[in-house]
This record gives sequence, C-alpha cells and structure tokens, in this order.
Amino acid sequence: MIGPELKTLREGRGMDQRAFAEHLNGQLGRSYDKARISRWESGAERIPAQVAKFVAAEMAPKALVPKRCIILAVANQKGGVGKTTSAVNLAFLLANAGLKVLLIDSDPQASATAHLGIDQAEAHAAGNTLYPVLRQEKPITDVIVPVCDGLFDLVPSTIALANVDIELASDPVNGGPLAMRDRLEPLRGIYNAVVIDCGPTLSMLTVNALNAADQLLVPVQTETLAGLGVSLLLETANKLRRRSNPGLQILGLLPTMYTSRNAAEKLTLEELHELFGKVIRIFDPIPRTTKFTQSARAQLPLLKAAPNAPGAEVYHEITRTLITHMIAEDGRVAS
Ligand SMILES: Nc1ncnc2c1ncn2[C@@H]1O[C@H](COP(=O)(O)OP(=O)(O)OP(=O)(O)O)[C@@H](O)[C@H]1O
Ligand SMILES: [Mg+2]
Repeated sequence: MIGPELKTLREGRGMDQRAFAEHLNGQLGRSYDKARISRWESGAERIPAQVAKFVAAEMAPKALVPKRCIILAVANQKGGVGKTTSAVNLAFLLANAGLKVLLIDSDPQASATAHLGIDQAEAHAAGNTLYPVLRQEKPITDVIVPVCDGLFDLVPSTIALANVDIELASDPVNGGPLAMRDRLEPLRGIYNAVVIDCGPTLSMLTVNALNAADQLLVPVQTETLAGLGVSLLLETANKLRRRSNPGLQILGLLPTMYTSRNAAEKLTLEELHELFGKVIRIFDPIPRTTKFTQSARAQLPLLKAAPNAPGAEVYHEITRTLITHMIAEDGRVAS
C-alpha cells in the first residue's frame, strides 16, 4: 500500500488524520499521531506492514458509502492528449478503492478497449460494444465485459461507432443528443462510478457523452495554444448546461505529458492557470513518461503495474475528488 491509497481510503471513511490515528490506535493498540499519518500519506515514511494489512483488510471493501453514482466524461476534442490513459487509470483507481466501476469506451478508435486487452473484432462480432446500445438493439447491461482481472467492467468500442453520429442525428426521437443519457440510466442503480472515454472530436457522440455526464475532466497537453481548444470545449459544456444537462460540473483541467524543464510547456501551464485558474480547478500536471505507453502496450493500467509511477499522486487526487462528490450529501462540493 502506498501513501495516496491510504489517503483515499481514510478520506473515503470521512476521517481526518487525527481521527484516523485514534481509530488505528484503538484497533491496533498503538500510539500513532496525526503527524505520523501525514508522513505515511506523503510517502516520507513507509507505512508499517501491520497498518497496511489492517487497512487493506478492514477498511477497503466497506470504506466507502457512496450516496450516488457519478458519471465522468473524459473529453477534449484535441487528439492524443491523454484522455484514454486518464480514463483507464482513473477507472482502475476508483475500483481499487472498493467502488463498483464501469468504463465506457465511446471512441471509435477503441483505444481503451485495446488498452484493457479486449479484442475489438471479437467484441464487435459478439455484439458486446456501445454501438448496439446506442441503436437500442441491446440494453447496456448486456454488453458489459469484466476487465483487469475482474476489478472493474468495460463497455467496449468498435470502429462501427464511427457511423453512429449520422444515425443519431437522423433519428431525433430515439437518437439525438440525449440517446446515451437514456441508455446509461439503468447503470446508476448498479455502479458507483461510470467513466466515459471520449474520442478526439466534438461529435454527436461526444455531445451525447457530455449530456450523460455529471462531471467533465479535460486532459490538456501543455503545448502552445492548448487554451484555445479548452475554451471551445468549455463553451460547449456551458451551452449543454443551459440547454440539456444543467447538472454538468467541470471537475477540472488535467495538464498531461508535462516536462518541467521545457520552457515552452512551463509557459503554457502558466497560461492555462491565467486563463482558467480562477473558474476551474487545474490539477497538478502529469509528467511526461514513456511508462504510460509501455503499459498501454502491455494492456494494463500503469497504476496497477506500477502504483508509484510518475503522476500517480495526481490521479489519486482526482480519484479522491470524485469520491468526495460521491459521498457528499447533495453531490455538490467545492472543488
Ligand atoms: N503522461 C504521459 N507521458 C507520456 N506519454 C503519455 C502520457 N500519457 C499518455 N501518453 C501516451 O500518449 C499517447 C496518447 O495518449 P492517449 O491515448 O491517452 O490520448 P488520447 O487523448 O486518448 O488520444 P486520442 O485523442 O487519440 O483518443 C499514448 O501513446 C499514451 O501512451
Ligand atoms: Mg483516446
């Protein structure tokens, strides 16, 4: 167990560090204090094996009592900015925290499907993809496949989804921009978290995902003019909020593939803070590392294979924020 995991579990139980120390002391007959918990969580000190074992056995499965299902769309019309990487690793961390999680691959490129080792052609042949669901041929519960050793579930994608934009647009009654929201409704009674990995366009499919979502996370690569694309997406989100999905909240911007030594990237990060920092949460950047690509090739979420990989703490922070929303009485927390 690593510090961020411990923090996620502790916060999921609604305990501050002092209350957690008292809980541990009561259960394990020790005399830990708040400062010690803080050092474990920051990684400054190793978590004792006895504590790790206790927390894993006693706290994890029943640690979280979510009051509502959160549907999170991971979107940016810009390609290759870390949407799929973020969606896959967040689904893993949420599931690892003891939540029931579904990842929906809503991108015809089927990158999340491949990342989790599901063969797109086989899923297509078996009809286990998002496509027949959007066409109202199958309920979503019929196309779900377990992934990551059964830790969480996936609705795979297929290239056939590339046709669905036209089909949705030409059928305003069963299709239109609200089709996905309709088809996902049964999931709220089954899952604690549904993560939608969107494709790199502001297509009908992406608009459907934004209309189905409670929260939007926008991965953004720290390259010149990144702010323009973000403005466009946020404008779309605002329009949808006015017209069709008033509950949509922006979870935040997630700068990705960041090299702090690179002056241009540093400047872009500062620009993002100047442009959006007052109105939207900007998470700490995910460093650039080839480990993400290697893990995608190995068909594993990186944070399963390497829990301490660069960027782990940031993905844990996003997970904690989502959990805070899930367990908040009214679903609205300051972020
Ligand atoms: N922090 C990172 N550092 C370096 N490479 C990364 C990082 N995050 C993701 N990558 C790699 O960058 C590429 C694009 O990432 P990813 O597929 O997650 O982006 P995407 O936004 O989903 O792309 P698309 O728009 O095509 O769906 C992948 O090869 C991925 O492994
Ligand atoms: Mg992708």
